[in-house]
This record gives sequence, structure tokens and C-alpha cells, in this order.
Amino acid sequence: MSELPAPRFHRVCATDDLWAGEMKEFTVAGTTIVVLRTDDGSIRAVQYVCPHQDYPLRNGDFDGCTLTCGAHLWEFDVETGRSINPDDAKLAMYPVEERDEFVYVAVDGIDPYHSHA
Ligand code: FES
Repeated sequence: MSELPAPRFHRVCATDDLWAGEMKEFTVAGTTIVVLRTDDGSIRAVQYVCPHQDYPLRNGDFDGCTLTCGAHLWEFDVETGRSINPDDAKLAMYPVEERDEFVYVAVDGIDPYHSHA
């Protein structure tokens, strides 16, 4: 039985580059992502474009819990990646580690989701 390889984490930013309720765009190993700090202090990393029509999610609104796309206002829970409205879409979530005052994200093998138009 073979084991999955351990995710390869890449340094993205310093932990204090993101305050609660903030989101920023980064390109990690050729993949552009959005990194967010939630109201409870957790870091999340999600796909760069909206699964609806590929609009950049960093141009939307983040209230510390819900990410709202700026194009047609689809809403996503960044804890789970699941959409709230409509309720049948989701975001790709990238593994995140915080250590030694830096944020690391793994992107290998994770593709963005696309949904109905
Ligand atoms: S492109 Fe995001 S809601 Fe339509």
C-alpha cells in the first residue's frame, strides 16, 4: 500500500501581513491564490477565481467569515470552502501552516473548482 506524499509547503508571507478580516493575493509555485485571516485568527487559502465565472475573488468582499464575489455576489464560507448562496458550489482550499512567524501554503495537485453558469 502506498502513502500519499507529504504536501510541499511554500512560504507566502509573514503572519502579521494579514489582519483579521483581510485577504491578499499571492502566487505560490505558479498558482495564484487568495489568503485570508478570519475573525478567529485562522489563516485560510482559497482558489483565486470564483467558480461561477472566473472573476478574481480578491476583488470581492470579506467580512472575516464570508467571502462574497464582487461580480454576482455568490457567498462562500472560508472555513469550509462551501458556498452559502447558492448552496451548491465550493472553493478549492489549500493546506496552510503558520510557523516561525510565516505563513506557508501547499498548492500541488489542487485545482480550482468551477460551477454552473
Ligand atoms: S463570477 Fe463570482 S458570482 Fe459570478
